[in-house]
Amino acid sequence: MARKPIIAGNWKMNNTLAETRTLVEGLIPLVKDAKCDVVICTPYTDLALAVELTRGTNIHVGAENVHWAEKGAFTGEISAKMLVELGVEYVIIGHSERRQYFGETDETVNKRVKAALAAGLKPIICVGETLDEREAGKVEEVLVRQTKAAFDGIDKEELDNIVIAYEPVWAIGTGKTATAQVADETIAIIRNTMAELYCPKCAENRVRIQYGGSMNPKNAAELMAMPQIDGGLIGGASLKAEDFSKVVNY
Ligand code: PGA
Repeated sequence: MARKPIIAGNWKMNNTLAETRTLVEGLIPLVKDAKCDVVICTPYTDLALAVELTRGTNIHVGAENVHWAEKGAFTGEISAKMLVELGVEYVIIGHSERRQYFGETDETVNKRVKAALAAGLKPIICVGETLDEREAGKVEEVLVRQTKAAFDGIDKEELDNIVIAYEPVWAIGTGKTATAQVADETIAIIRNTMAELYCPKCAENRVRIQYGGSMNPKNAAELMAMPQIDGGLIGGASLKAEDFSKVVNY
């Protein structure tokens, strides 16, 4: 199995600079022997400090969004170049909270992915169905649509630089995890879509797909044991060094 697991924290709108320092300093020794890639995605204001604190460690830093334009009149937005300048490596794109509350669409996700890659950032692209969509039997339709749109115009060569996060919207922050079985089956749909878009071998060897949604120290090992699951995108449980390190060291 060529796919190296990757566990990423999504801090969302949490942590001041002082809290960032405490959390990151606590985390460094706890995850130093991790066998997976370790990433923390922080608010923009914490990025510079997170990069500084993690320099020389095995922790990588990501942002939670990025704009597609190089620069210009986009009040409140941040460009890929600005993130790269800080030493940021990853960026979450298309999180369901962006889609739900901030008008993110499949089309803007694709524009952000292209801008991120062009600047040398590694996108963590989020896809996932709502509860209504699952109950209406539309899981496959939604995931195929979101995946195809996100990867529109993206070269095969870029696959090693991209992570997909399957995050069922009904499992985020709810304490409701998809069962390992359901997560695994659903991720297989995404991988099949990638096989169709690129090639079966690329999808099998080069596409890392995380599960996200109430993943925590208790359920991490079971989820990570599933053949399709290559990692986790962790919200709530990434805010405490101890909890996050237990997920990382599943
Ligand atoms: P959660 O969030 O772990 O708190 O459910 C996951 C996410 O939204 O990325």
